[in-house]
Amino acid sequence: MSQPVAIITGASSGIGLAVTKHLVADGWRVVMADITEESGKAIAAELGDQVLFCAIDVSSYPQQADLFKKAFSWGGDRLELFAANAGIADTQFLHENDYHCDEDGTVLPLSLKTMDVNFTAVVQGIWLFKHYARQNKVPGGKVIITSSAAGLYQMGTNPIYTASKHALIGLTRALGPLFDQQNIQVNAICPAFVLTGLCPKDIRDRFPKEHVTPMSTIIKAYETFINDDSLSGQTVEVSLNQLYFRTQPDYPNESQRWLAEDSTSFWEEAYKEPVQS
Ligand SMILES: NC(=O)c1ccc[n+]([C@@H]2O[C@H](COP(=O)([O-])OP(=O)(O)OC[C@H]3O[C@@H](n4cnc5c(N)ncnc54)[C@H](O)[C@@H]3O)[C@@H](O)[C@H]2O)c1
Repeated sequence: MSQPVAIITGASSGIGLAVTKHLVADGWRVVMADITEESGKAIAAELGDQVLFCAIDVSSYPQQADLFKKAFSWGGDRLELFAANAGIADTQFLHENDYHCDEDGTVLPLSLKTMDVNFTAVVQGIWLFKHYARQNKVPGGKVIITSSAAGLYQMGTNPIYTASKHALIGLTRALGPLFDQQNIQVNAICPAFVLTGLCPKDIRDRFPKEHVTPMSTIIKAYETFINDDSLSGQTVEVSLNQLYFRTQPDYPNESQRWLAEDSTSFWEEAYKEPVQS
């Protein structure tokens, strides 16, 4: 099969669905992964043979591992793109007082499902992607992570979501140059507000139109990362009709620059010993 193959998570709705449709129109074969089975299956049936729908919860490692195995075989032993896109808002609020205790009075843990879906599942997905991308005819591929404007600023109503999206930016910046050496480019998009299923319908209806980023700008960001092999470890803010490449904060002094850029040989020395697990 000569068509490139992509896995897109969170593909039943919003950004994932729009990217799926765009890639299919562009000749890709797409494995749509989503926890929402009914609509995903129906959309996949409409899109035809170029797509395969897999009902999975990305926060389950065995389910994600099975997804990659199926996708690689369905794609004819090739996999060029992993769009790590599935995401959810906070499932419990750290700043609110809705905690519960067990019968001994011990406070039950906060739900960290948001970290599991938005961050841990992305890391595990990249881990799996590397295994398969290395087996491509030309070894390598691309990872595009959907972070958020909340990965650059803060979203006061959703502290855990904010933390998860910031974590994705750190991951992208650290991993991008390392993976590039294996011909895998890792980049992240940081959308501003886009009308999708993430936000309740009544809020969508009332949201000021001048602050809504069109899906076409998200697609432009995807196209940029798909077509430009020189980009890895990059973060692009997607707002209204523009893409803004965002770099890490400036160093306050030469010592901080040295620690971040020139101290590598010291760390390599330190990590010569096997890491204890
Ligand atoms: N819409 C926005 O304004 C906006 C802004 C910045 C970032 N984002 C990010 O964009 C990404 C896509 O969200 P969207 O806006 O298209 O929302 P959406 O709700 O329309 O789509 C998200 C999809 O992810 C799926 N999903 C949720 N949990 C899952 C899981 N555990 N396993 C598999 N699939 C799961 C949902 O079923 C849904 O189909 C998310 O990571 C979100 O944080 C969205």
